[in-house]
Amino acid sequence: MDEEVLFSITRKHLDTGLRGFPVGYCTTSHVDPQKGLFYGNKAVDQLAHRDPVEVIYLLYYGKEGTRAEIKAFDALIASRSTLQPEVIRAIEALPRQGHPMKLFSAAILLLGMLQKTGDYREDCIDAIAKFPHLVACVINHHAGWGKTPEAQPNIGYVENFVHLLKMPRLDGKALIPALKLFGILHFDHGGGNLSTFVGKAVASGLEDLYGSLSAAMCALAGPRHGKANQDCLEFVRYVMDEVGEDATAEQVEALIRHRLATQQLVFGFGHAVLRVEDPRATVLYDYAKKHYSHHPLVKMALLLRSQGSKVLAENPKVSDPHPNVDAISGTLLTAAGFPHFEYYTLLFGLFRCVGIGIQIVVDRLEAREGKGTPIVRPKYLYKSQKA
Ligand code: MLT
Repeated sequence: MDEEVLFSITRKHLDTGLRGFPVGYCTTSHVDPQKGLFYGNKAVDQLAHRDPVEVIYLLYYGKEGTRAEIKAFDALIASRSTLQPEVIRAIEALPRQGHPMKLFSAAILLLGMLQKTGDYREDCIDAIAKFPHLVACVINHHAGWGKTPEAQPNIGYVENFVHLLKMPRLDGKALIPALKLFGILHFDHGGGNLSTFVGKAVASGLEDLYGSLSAAMCALAGPRHGKANQDCLEFVRYVMDEVGEDATAEQVEALIRHRLATQQLVFGFGHAVLRVEDPRATVLYDYAKKHYSHHPLVKMALLLRSQGSKVLAENPKVSDPHPNVDAISGTLLTAAGFPHFEYYTLLFGLFRCVGIGIQIVVDRLEAREGKGTPIVRPKYLYKSQKA
């Protein structure tokens, strides 16, 4: 078993971003190319409409909680959910220039400096509990929406986050269910996605949980990873500006063909692992169709879903012509009343830190019979600059 060959490396695998290289075990979730994301042995679409804390419990303990266990876990999270005033003051002293992901990474470091315990397990629970408050403070400060109100931890994990947001014209009744769905679908995505891998790699040097999560969020910030949800929404808006709100499928198809012919990107399609429509996207499309079918951006995202896949599937070089989760997540958030797209990556990060934090705890405290995984140290082959 230990000698079984899992993967053989040839020169053609070099400089491919470690694509598909098995490097260890992930106990929280896995991504099947045909079936998509599983939390434990449950497909994510079966969990999407649960309460987020129930799903966090499943990821954290690797099993479903009883009603009493979830109640106790919920109470534990609520009891730890408030930032100390000095953390809030430090966040509000940060400059507001640049993308809010920069502030998020900085704020995570500040929280670690001021409130860490140094124990991965305790810090993980603390981070899961406190990040809604932290992210609300970052958004309110960056957007200039004013002081973050007192937390109301007992109203629910996502409910408290929405309560803490000072966004003008906020309609909690529309936003809360959409954000719960978005959150559950973004909690975890196996061990090899860039932000999770980076977080685990940094923690392998025995950096604390907050430094590791801050690094993970720098990794998430790039447009090939977490910022894709913002870029996809901007793309849907661009297509609508180009072809108009009442465009036909043929007009959208023609625009996609033109972009591909002129080597321009078509956003929201393809995935490193998946070879079917991302089941997370399917859940969000279904929700958007059910609740916001008349919203112009939803109508356009649905046209892009069908026409984009159709055109991309004609090209045999495209390994995955299907929409990914980013193709629809930003459109849904906009339709549900959160139109501030520069914060979409931050919302992704808020929820993804749950899975990354738990995976770091497993790597540091449980892997290899409790010895923990060793420091990450892959090898690069030397190549002269002139070669
Ligand atoms: C994710 O959810 O992390 C993205 O789909 C990227 C990935 O899995 O590589």
